[in-house]
Amino acid sequence: MRSPAAAGEPRALEAFPRRAGVLFAEDVSLAQIAEAVGTPCFVYSAGALVAAYDALDAAFRGVPHTLCYALKANMNLAVVRTLVARGAGADVTSGGELFRALRAGAPAGRIVYSGVGKTDDEIDRALDAGIKLFNVESRSELRRIDLRARQSGVRAPIAFRVNPDVDPKTHPYVSTGLRTSKFGIPISEAMDAYAEAKALDGVRIVGVDCHIGSQLTRLEPFADALSRVRSLIFELRAAGHAIEIVDVGGGLGVRYSEERPPDAGEYAAVVCKALRDLGCEIVLEPGRWLTANAGVLLTRVLLEKTNDDKRFVVVDGAMNDLIRPALYQAFQTIEPVGPPRGPTRPVDVVGPVCESGDFLAKDRPFPPVERGDLLAVRGAGAYGFAMSSNYNARPRAAEVLVRADRFAVVRERESLEDLVRGETIPREITG
Ligand code: LLP
Repeated sequence: MRSPAAAGEPRALEAFPRRAGVLFAEDVSLAQIAEAVGTPCFVYSAGALVAAYDALDAAFRGVPHTLCYALKANMNLAVVRTLVARGAGADVTSGGELFRALRAGAPAGRIVYSGVGKTDDEIDRALDAGIKLFNVESRSELRRIDLRARQSGVRAPIAFRVNPDVDPKTHPYVSTGLRTSKFGIPISEAMDAYAEAKALDGVRIVGVDCHIGSQLTRLEPFADALSRVRSLIFELRAAGHAIEIVDVGGGLGVRYSEERPPDAGEYAAVVCKALRDLGCEIVLEPGRWLTANAGVLLTRVLLEKTNDDKRFVVVDGAMNDLIRPALYQAFQTIEPVGPPRGPTRPVDVVGPVCESGDFLAKDRPFPPVERGDLLAVRGAGAYGFAMSSNYNARPRAAEVLVRADRFAVVRERESLEDLVRGETIPREITG
């Protein structure tokens, strides 16, 4: 954990080392955290966040670049702050994320804003803050931003998010660069869109943006998309547009189990090969890569049960805490925090939520467990808490940040009162 990150590889897995058979977060025992904070709870390693950020930043050394952390992966203020303190900017996708990015100390001049449906209020807030870049996803949105900016007497810096029609070869729910997806404008219509933008007084064209999907484990889709973006930039410049920024989006995949995603150096080589000679600033929007393996979900075994010959380990964490297995059939490694109690047998690890979709693992070889045992679900730093909900009136989990031998609760577990905050019973209507 303390040694410098190997070039291009976040040292994330060592953020949760096993010492004398017991799983730790950096230098703090996960059992100690569970004792102090309760379960379920997310535990993040600040060292792993920093190591991942530094590795990606180092891979792009030599080209002007800004790493705009995609808050959607993990929006906890302390997590965002840890990355911002290393120099990260932010990629936001809503007024709420903009608020969080600013609250965590991200400089407005390093914030980019993507998303297919920005409301007037969100546009106004971003204009007021003076963000670096609006990634515009349609011509109707262009007109809206132009109008709001003119009303505020400013010019909004914009890039069009172009949809290059490339198959990123990932889960369909997180493929965004296909012709059929709702994102961006077709690259074939980009010249017309830029021509329209050039004539508007409320916007200033500064770049081109492209994001094709998430958890990409191959480089070819990035290379294909970027070669299309590259050709477009030549055309745009020939038509007199000043293109200073290329936002290449996020999407670099991580290892949850057997995947072999490219490392940061390989990814940077592909991006730089496509873009370096254009003299643009490269903006990146990594989310998962910075956070996924910097976090675990800690959960406690409630009981074991067998229905016919099917074994279930029922834990206190559920799909409302971590929806990825249910929503994407995603595989996330689960291991006991203590030493294994015996040889593995296939089990489903499930939560208490009343749906058969509520599972964290299916048919997974797992050692025997006893009530009260702690389990750690790895890869839970990205799209874990951020996608959690109160389904089944379950208070959302606590979040903990660890650095070396210190830890802090960076989000309290929700209380029962939190569950009903803002609700009223209007007697004249309810009876
Ligand atoms: N930029 C844009 C415009 C995006 O839409 C996304 C992710 C990112 C950046 C960050 O992508 P990343 O580097 O994290 O792959 N909930 C899903 C992932 C959804 C990704 C949505 N967009 C999951 O748990 O797998």
